[in-house]
Amino acid sequence: MSHIQIAVDGPAGAGKSTIAKLIAKELNYIYVDTGAMYRAVTYFAMQHNFISETHLHTKELIKNLSDITLQFRFNETLGFAEMYLNNENIEQAIRTIEVSRLVSKIAEISEVRAKLVEQQQQMGQNKGIVMDGRDIGTVVFPDADLKLFMTASPQTKAQRRFEELIEKGQKVTFEEVLQNVQERDYIDTHREDSPLVKADEAIEIDNSNLTKKEQFELVMELVKDIL
Ligand code: CDP
Repeated sequence: MSHIQIAVDGPAGAGKSTIAKLIAKELNYIYVDTGAMYRAVTYFAMQHNFISETHLHTKELIKNLSDITLQFRFNETLGFAEMYLNNENIEQAIRTIEVSRLVSKIAEISEVRAKLVEQQQQMGQNKGIVMDGRDIGTVVFPDADLKLFMTASPQTKAQRRFEELIEKGQKVTFEEVLQNVQERDYIDTHREDSPLVKADEAIEIDNSNLTKKEQFELVMELVKDIL
């Protein structure tokens, strides 16, 4: 069976990672969460005081980008790959609302994008990959065999993200999460470099009213057509 590249894009909380993980598991492909990489750079920038709610030292961050080494390491127990920054497991640390509030500002910086896109393209060289993000079908893999664009109503997106954060034991309000999702979507769709936009050939799936199983079956049909 030939191996293909599957690109999954869409706004925050649209269920990209849920479907991408299921498909990757079914096909025995690699799954890559590119959002984790932007979150990791944000975490690095926060640690070095290059960014906070009140300032952003873009030049300093750019100067220090070569000090960032990102790796995904598969955790057998959890069944998914965790994000490592310079050999430190930061999987939990990058999922906080504090990182979510700053990540879209970091993702606007072209030098950051260039570094991460290069690494993402290397990971997809041998195909057999499902990658989710904002610019996968447009910039990272413009020739991907299958491009999906996931959407859901704003309420659904915020509700999903809120439940995930509560499950992880974080203290957040629904309003806070809704505001964050809306702010990020605004910045992500309006930035100059690689904005979030549906690729021409991408298949749009609004999953507001689909169960995980329905979504999975729908996408697997598309995959089978290609294979
Ligand atoms: O999981 P969620 O959809 O909330 O976000 P994420 O995938 O973890 O991505 C976090 C942020 O990283 C996004 O809001 C974008 O600002 C940025 N991002 C990006 O610019 N390009 C990507 N390919 C992936 C994420």
